[in-house]
Amino acid sequence: MKINTTTLLAAIIFMVATSCKQQQEKKTAVEHAPAATESHSDMLALLQKMSLKEKIGQMTQLNIDVVSKGEIYNLVEPHQLDEEKLKKALVEYGVGSILNVGGHAYSLAHWQEIIAQIQHTATNDTRLGIPVLYGIDAIHGANYVLEGTLFPQQLAQAATFNPQLVKRAAEITAYETKACGIPWNFSPVLDLGRQPLWSRFFETYGEDVLLAKTMGEAVISGYQGDNAADAEHLAACMKHFFGYSLPFTGKDRTPVYLHERQLREYFLPTFQKAIETGALSIMINSGELNGIPVHADKAILTDLLRDELHFEGVAVTDWEDIMKLNNIHKVAPTLKDAVAMAVNAGIDMSMVPNDYQFSDLLLELVQEGRVSEKRIDESVLRILIMKKKLGLFENPIPFKTYNYNKVGSAEFAEASYQTACEAITLLKNENNNLPLNANAKLLVVGNGAKSLTKLNGAWSRTWQGTDPTYDDHTKQTVFEALQNNFAQVVYVDANAGFNASQLKGVEQVLVCLAERPSTEKPGDIDNLHLENSTTDWLKKAAAYKLPITLVLLENRPRIITELEPHCASIIMAYQPGNEGGRAVADIISGKVNPSGRLPFTYPRHTNSLLTYDHKYTEELDTAFGMNAFNPLYHFGHGLSYAAFSYTNLAISKDTMSGNESVEISIQVENTSDLDGKETVLLFVSDRFASITPSVKRLRGFQKQMIKAKTTATYTFTLSAADLQFVDANNQWIAEEGWFDVQIGDLGTSFYYKP
Ligand code: BGC
Repeated sequence: MKINTTTLLAAIIFMVATSCKQQQEKKTAVEHAPAATESHSDMLALLQKMSLKEKIGQMTQLNIDVVSKGEIYNLVEPHQLDEEKLKKALVEYGVGSILNVGGHAYSLAHWQEIIAQIQHTATNDTRLGIPVLYGIDAIHGANYVLEGTLFPQQLAQAATFNPQLVKRAAEITAYETKACGIPWNFSPVLDLGRQPLWSRFFETYGEDVLLAKTMGEAVISGYQGDNAADAEHLAACMKHFFGYSLPFTGKDRTPVYLHERQLREYFLPTFQKAIETGALSIMINSGELNGIPVHADKAILTDLLRDELHFEGVAVTDWEDIMKLNNIHKVAPTLKDAVAMAVNAGIDMSMVPNDYQFSDLLLELVQEGRVSEKRIDESVLRILIMKKKLGLFENPIPFKTYNYNKVGSAEFAEASYQTACEAITLLKNENNNLPLNANAKLLVVGNGAKSLTKLNGAWSRTWQGTDPTYDDHTKQTVFEALQNNFAQVVYVDANAGFNASQLKGVEQVLVCLAERPSTEKPGDIDNLHLENSTTDWLKKAAAYKLPITLVLLENRPRIITELEPHCASIIMAYQPGNEGGRAVADIISGKVNPSGRLPFTYPRHTNSLLTYDHKYTEELDTAFGMNAFNPLYHFGHGLSYAAFSYTNLAISKDTMSGNESVEISIQVENTSDLDGKETVLLFVSDRFASITPSVKRLRGFQKQMIKAKTTATYTFTLSAADLQFVDANNQWIAEEGWFDVQIGDLGTSFYYKP
């Protein structure tokens, strides 16, 4: 039967009317149902065939450990699915989604075996044959596939200021993940990195809204392509919605207090842009925001996400977060209350993930009328539509029909290398200390020099990324890559101590300091100082008056203020991935001209953690030398071996009205003999505003290659949207007045009249 839209709506209304003992709710199912278009009539028909238990099964997501041999978090090696447990999940409970990896990465072949087995059981042994939606965190490449390409972490990717590279990395990640048969990636993180203490700082695109928004759009288009169902693409999952990343204490999953105005101006735009870009799913913030755990907050999960932002995709909880409403957040006296709270607030799928309590309790809740079947139907329809959009019904096992022969290929490694090269940021280079001559004798020290895990960071083969068992020894550490670039490279173990004779003939000391890879709660720290014995070593080595290059492999900006004066050069390498050792060495040797820029403000002091877009009150007291905004390195800072000179800043008009726009251009001359990439950052300051204005906001950026001794023109267009902020009524507004534009040291101004 051909079902038209009216029939569809009627069908939904019928389902609403017939559902048992519903709770009084303001909204109707029709309002919240995913676009009830003809194209989804098949999913609606499927929904109508489902029993309540089957529907709840679709909303249930289990950890792979639950269906594997052995105990949860302690599986039998080599990992294998347990046929009986799998049947219990898929056949008895109708579970719709499985996630994660059992403790450590699997080979591509092993993944394919597992996914084939899961989909075979789901499609053949269950009553309705609905395929499973498998989800994974492939957050900097296919990090849970042994052969998978490891890219620089998100923070480093942001430092490239090059969305094309970010998109390419996402395409490769999608390809290698889909090769396993996994169609859903819990990435990107769209939280802003504005709290340097936070353990997940490296998972963000840094502190700025425009940069994060732009990179978010690039990564989602890379993951999903034009059609997420095709062999090389998958569904993105933007996370963690929202206001997760600015815990007051800096510790993960501790309270966040943000005014709605700040939330809307800083923390919402990345998600809004991602929704416009078509992101198919969203993961909810595990923490509490202004006293309410977000998983229980209907104002955020339904009123904002569905009614205001019109998001139609799937909202999945974060790990155990319904349970946490009861046992951690203490807003739900029982687990059952927690389930009712979260489902009624608007979640579609529960990342339970280790037992069946969510399924059992939700069934009871619907039977008791505490959760309406209408609410269940909305969620299940969204999940079914997502499965359909991913092509799972026609092709649940993509590698059966498609040859993924590029997994772990040299081509993909090259893309990772390019990204690392453009990410790595030269922070300091006194008297052109770098690049170094190939004949120079180098002494290398530091805990990051001989480690691949420290190049890659967390979410690399294991969750915390600290286990070297899974290192790919065809990749080069910083030390190995230096050996390939320089004739004489000596490594000294700082822990063993050193003596002056080791420094004989040495022309440069390279200190490679790494933070222990970590994320989430295990990454919580008590202060930003680097805990590393090598820091003392660096000071001792400095006494010998040898030039020192400091290479930083960091999860977040750790304080290096005391070390900085001893260093001729400082390279921020972030966590540059498996090709990062090569990239660092190639920058040191000059094969690569660095072009990365800091996507955050590098603090000078542990308790002065301001962002570049702070308020005037935060920098006014310079006269007394106290508390002024005085970072070690500014947002956007990054040196090149080339020299660029900015001239001819031009603006198309000095008054802009209503919906008009202004064009701003600048010429950048590469005055050096070296080709180089230069990112131009355009900042705008609102001179006076009804809400205290930030001293400046990034409103445009562009990166171009400028050949030696040539000049390039950069052109930007600003419209009223680029002048807006969120006012006292929580509305976006551009107010009349003067706006100052700043590019490098040059400036111009224009007057805006709404
Ligand atoms: C993290 C998420 C992640 C999920 C699944 C959670 O602990 O907060 O970012 O996607 O686990 O692994």
